[in-house]
This record gives sequence, C-alpha cells and structure tokens, in this order.
Amino acid sequence: MKQQGMTLWFTGLSGAGKTTISKAVEEQLREQGYKVEVLDGDIVRENLTKGLGFSKADRDENIRRIGFVAQLLTRNGVIVIVSAISPYRAIRDEVRSKIGNFIEVYVNAPLAVCEDRDVKGLYKKARAGEIKSFTGIDDPYEPPLNPEVECKTNQETLSESVEKVMAKLNQYVHVN
Ligand code: PPS
Ligand code: MG
Repeated sequence: MKQQGMTLWFTGLSGAGKTTISKAVEEQLREQGYKVEVLDGDIVRENLTKGLGFSKADRDENIRRIGFVAQLLTRNGVIVIVSAISPYRAIRDEVRSKIGNFIEVYVNAPLAVCEDRDVKGLYKKARAGEIKSFTGIDDPYEPPLNPEVECKTNQETLSESVEKVMAKLNQYVHVN
C-alpha cells in the first residue's frame, strides 16, 4: 500500500482544542489503516525541543524543529499531525512552503472561552503574573489568514470538527 504523506498542522490558542481534535483525528486515521505520527507541542517540548522557552526566538525554533521532522515524515508517506500554538504566521508559512503537502487547521475559540475553560490552570497563573509571555495574555497570536480548515470549537461539536478535517484530508490523500 502506498500512502501519500501529508502534514495536518493544528494552530490555535492554549485550550482552544488542538490536542483534543488531533487525537480524535489520529484515532480515526489509525482505524482506517493509515500511518500516522503526532507531534504535540506539550510532548515535543519534553524531548525534541527540550530546553526551549516561550520567547519569540524559542517558539520559532520549536516550530522549525517540529516542521523539520514533519517534513521528513511527510515525504515518507506518513500523515503527520502537529498540534502546537505556533503563534507566528511567518514561521508557519515557512514550514508550509518547505513541506508542501500541508493542511493548516485553525482551531479557533475566543480567548475568553479558552480562559474560561482553563483546562490546565495556566490562564489563571498568567493573569496572576506567575507565567510570563503567555499566548493571548501578554504574548501575541497571529491567526491564519487562509487556513484550509477552521474549527470553531465553541460553536461546533468535536465530531463536527473532526469531520471537517477528515473531509479536507480526503481531498488530498489518495491510497493506491
Ligand atoms: S509554541 O508557541 O507553538 O512554541 O508553543 P507549544 O510548543 O505548542 O507549547 C504550548 C504549550 O505549552 C504550555 N505553556 C504555554 N503556552 C503558551 N504560552 C506560554 N507562556 C506557555 N507556558 C507553558 C501549554 O501547556 C501549551 O499547551 P496547549 O496544548 O497549547 O495548551
Ligand atoms: Mg495541547
């Protein structure tokens, strides 16, 4: 079975739902027999990009390294699922142009909603000044201008979001 590689790049604020949607997409793809790898910011930062912080330079370096691995896997026929805040448009576009087979998924929930969810308690800490340079609070997030998919996680269900991603992927990936 030959599989065409693709990178599904999930970008969005902390707590927007990147990890949740990407895990559900991963599960569906595995069930369907695809080769899949997930590169999630929280996990990658414990190994591949360990030691990097949240300055612009470090975030860009984080995204470059993730992008490099995604590029290697994608050209070898893997469906790569990246979920990283990836707040800077320029570096996302740089990675897109290197990889080529690239679907940008904007996981979009308003800051107020993410902050209200506060799944990890990080927004509370950021508001209290205990975490500096927190995306959306005192650090920028540049939304994609033309994402292939946009998931509005405060207006649609998880399965609706997953379906959108799968539908877009199906336009590109052909197994023969
Ligand atoms: S980036 O900007 O793409 O390099 O970030 P990423 O590798 O995705 O890591 C984001 C996760 O790190 C935690 N965290 C922070 N996020 C944003 N800003 C600051 N200052 C910060 N400090 C720690 C947080 O758990 C993020 O995970 P998600 O899944 O996005 O909530
Ligand atoms: Mg996450």
